[in-house]
Amino acid sequence: MNKTLRKAVIAGNWKMNKTPSEAKALLTEIAPLVKDAEAEVIACVPYVDIAVAVETVKGTNIKIGAENAHWEEKGAFTGEISTGMLKEIGVEYVVLGHSERRQYFGETDETVNLRTKAVLAAGLKPIVCVGELLKERETNITQEVIARQIKLDLLGVSAEDVKNVVIAYEPVWAIGTGKTATAEQAEEVCAFIRETLAKLYSKEVADSITIQYGGSMNDGNAAELLGKENVDGGLIGGASLVAEKFAAIVSAANA
Ligand code: 13P
Repeated sequence: MNKTLRKAVIAGNWKMNKTPSEAKALLTEIAPLVKDAEAEVIACVPYVDIAVAVETVKGTNIKIGAENAHWEEKGAFTGEISTGMLKEIGVEYVVLGHSERRQYFGETDETVNLRTKAVLAAGLKPIVCVGELLKERETNITQEVIARQIKLDLLGVSAEDVKNVVIAYEPVWAIGTGKTATAEQAEEVCAFIRETLAKLYSKEVADSITIQYGGSMNDGNAAELLGKENVDGGLIGGASLVAEKFAAIVSAANA
C-alpha cells in the first residue's frame, strides 16, 4: 500500500468568503476540533484574511494557504500579490489553477506553470488544480484533458521540486453543484494522474505525491472518497466554511 507513504492533506478553499473578523471566528472554532488530526490541515483564505488567520492559528496544527500568487517577484502588476509577500506573512501553501480562475479570470496552463515554478522557488507548496468540464467527460476525453493539464502545469518542474506539489483533482461539474464524483470516478482519475506523474518523473516520485479530490466533498461522502488508494486528501469549498463539517472531513482522513 503506497498510500501509507503519503500524508493525507485536507485543505479548505474558502474562495471569496469571510471577512477578517469572520475568518478569525471560524478558525477559532475549527482549531480545537482538529487538534488531534493525523492529516495535514490547511485553510486557504482570501488575501486580506491571511494576517489574522496566521495569528489565529499560531500554536495549532492548522497551516494557512493563499488562493493564488503572481509569478513575478515584484513590479508594475497592479492588484497582484507576490510569493515573497505571501511567504513573509506566514503562508505555506498556495492554490493554483483553480477552475474558477481558469473559467472567470483567463487562467491558462501556461500561467499556472509560471505560478507553480514561482511558488516552488519561494519555498512554498503549490496545490495545483486540474479537472475536466462536463462536456469533456461526456465526450470521453477526461484523460486527455487531465494529462495535458498535468504536463503543461508542471513543465520544467524538477523531480526534487515536484515532491512539494500537491495535485487537486477537481472535476469542474462537481464544484459547488452538490454533484460529487463517485468514489470510483475520483479514484480512476487520481490513479491516472499518478500514472502520468510516474511517466513524467518516476514511480517513486509519483508514489510520494499527494493527490486530493475536490468537488462537493462533505462530511457525508468524505470517508468513502478518502478510502480510495489514490485519493490522499481533499480540497473543500462549501463544507470548509462550517467548522463541524470541515472537522468531520479531517476526522474521516484520520480513519
Ligand atoms: P465545493 O466543495 O464547494 O464543491 O468546492 C470545491 C472546490 O472548488 C474546492 O477548491
